[in-house]
This record gives sequence, structure tokens and C-alpha cells, in this order.
Amino acid sequence: MRVLSGVQPSGKLHLGNYLGAIKQHIELQQENECLYFIANYHSLTTVQDADRLAELTRDVALDYLALGLDPAKACLFRQSDIPEVCELAWILSTVTGEGLMRRAHSYKDKIAKGITPTMGLMSYPLLMAADILVYDSDVVPVGQDQVQHLEMTQDMAGYFNNVYKRQVLKRPEVRLNEACVVPGVDGQKMSKSYGNTIGLFDDPEVVRKRIMSVKTDSTPVEAPKDPECCNVFCILRLLATPQDAEQFAEAYRQGGLGYGAVKKRVAELFEETFGPARERRAELAADPDLVEDVLADGARRARVFAGEVMERVRRACGIVTAAARRA
Ligand code: TRP
Repeated sequence: MRVLSGVQPSGKLHLGNYLGAIKQHIELQQENECLYFIANYHSLTTVQDADRLAELTRDVALDYLALGLDPAKACLFRQSDIPEVCELAWILSTVTGEGLMRRAHSYKDKIAKGITPTMGLMSYPLLMAADILVYDSDVVPVGQDQVQHLEMTQDMAGYFNNVYKRQVLKRPEVRLNEACVVPGVDGQKMSKSYGNTIGLFDDPEVVRKRIMSVKTDSTPVEAPKDPECCNVFCILRLLATPQDAEQFAEAYRQGGLGYGAVKKRVAELFEETFGPARERRAELAADPDLVEDVLADGARRARVFAGEVMERVRRACGIVTAAARRA
């Protein structure tokens, strides 16, 4: 299966980002042909600072590589290295009703948040559909918030095929990322906007302090406790083996286990899980060419697929290019 997903840089990664998407992306590389790109054109709808955008883009690549993306298995590349994407986005815009674009939840949400309603923001789903359709993607793993965009993509493939009366664009399937509720240090869902995150690549001492600050109730140490109601246990379960987690659950129910001891274990598990990735990230970051080479190679491989699809698309709609005539 050809699996594709786009990652819009969002700054420093936290545990929720990792467990909610990246971990699953990386696992999929074992059994599938995976294409993952950094959606830097999409980022232009919100980041309008050249240095910042370049830095954010590079950070995504470093994060994925440090966390185990294997460039020999999966293609990792920048959206902007595949010019066919913008070409297809335009063509899709000519078969897509403007009412559909206005109805996108994410467009309405972003305007409500005060983001300037540019044409780029409104056309965001067109570019996203092009991202997906240009590689004949079979499956697109995304979070719940992107499902409407995927439905719009499926619709757009249908509009194009209907207008030109043949099956040119492949209808992709959605694969919902496993809904994984990661509590933040205050007990609400972990999210950058709540300021309750645990940074994946933060200094170990900073991470430890964050974990020690996770909110708990005031049940005394000796009292039996319900593990399901404890934020610390929820985080522990996400990092520990099932057996390890079960032992802790049992100790909660027995009583005599203090929250401080559980937090200490969580901090250890966190370091065991992400310590090696943090070191690897630092090594990768020290070699500027390495990331560039990975991205260039990923783009080269991905562009072969995009070229094939665009040839079909152009033929279907009568766009003749000088390059194709010469060939
Ligand atoms: N809109 C997606 C997000 O914010 C990022 C994205 C851009 C994407 N193009 C894509 C995801 C194509 C999947 C497929 O998360």
C-alpha cells in the first residue's frame, strides 16, 4: 500500500504529538511504501518569516529521523520540492465548487481564531487534495481534525474523473490515527495551546521537573487508589510495557504507593524511551548536509510518482506541455 501523510511544522514536539501521529507514521514504514512530506507551502498560510519557516521545516525532518524514520524505507521530503503539487492544486480548483471550500471547518475555525482569511487559507484543502492525489496514494493516516479534508479530497478526485469521464485520480482511504488521549501536566489533553506539554527533546532535567509537576489528587500514600483516575498512571501506561503497567495498577489498588514514586518511574521510562532519540537528534543536527541529502533523495523518489500522475492528468484535460512534446 502506498501510504502518504503531510506534516505541518508546529514547533517543538511534545509527547502528545509523538503518540498521536509520528509513532504510527514510523511504524507504517515496515510494511508499506510510505511518503511523508513537510507541508511548507501549507505553513505559509500562518508562518510568514523566511528564517522561521526554514528552521521549522528542518526541525520536522530532524524529529522524524531521530525518532526512527528510515530514509531507506520511507521517502521524507519537502512539499515544495514537488512542483507538480501546485500544478494539480490549480487544476483541481477548476473542477471544485467554491461553496465546498467555504464550508471547510478548519477554514472557519482558523478565521474564528483571527488568522487572516487569505485565498491561501481558503484554498488549503485544494493543496492538500493535490498533495494526496498526485502520488496515487492508497491510504492517508491523519488525526480526526483532518477527516473533512480527506472527504473533500475524495470528492475532488470524483469531480475530476466525472468532468473528464475517466478514472484518472485514485480515491484515497482515510486511516484514523489511533485516538490516544495523552494528559498534559494539568490533566487536560496535552496541547501546545494549553501550555501543559512535556517536550520530547527537552533537556532531561527539564523533562523530569515537568513530570514531577503532573497534577494529582491528595489521596494519602497508604490509601488504595483508582489508577484509571490518575494522570500519572495514564502517562505511565503509554510508556511502560503492559506487564509493568499492570503491576503499577495493582499497587495503586493495594494502597501504599505514593504519586512521587510513580512519577519517578515515569521520568525513567521517558528517558529510556526518548533519551537515545534526543542524542541522535543532536548528532543529526550537527551535520547540515545530512538532512538536506535525505530530503533531496526523498523528493527525487516521490517526484517519479507525481510525474506519472500528472502526465495522466494533463492528457485527460488537454494540457500539452512543450517538455512532453519534445520527449
Ligand atoms: N493539514 C494537515 C495537518 O495540518 C497537513 C497536511 C498537508 C496533510 N497536506 C497533507 C496531511 C496531506 C495528510 C495528507 O495536519
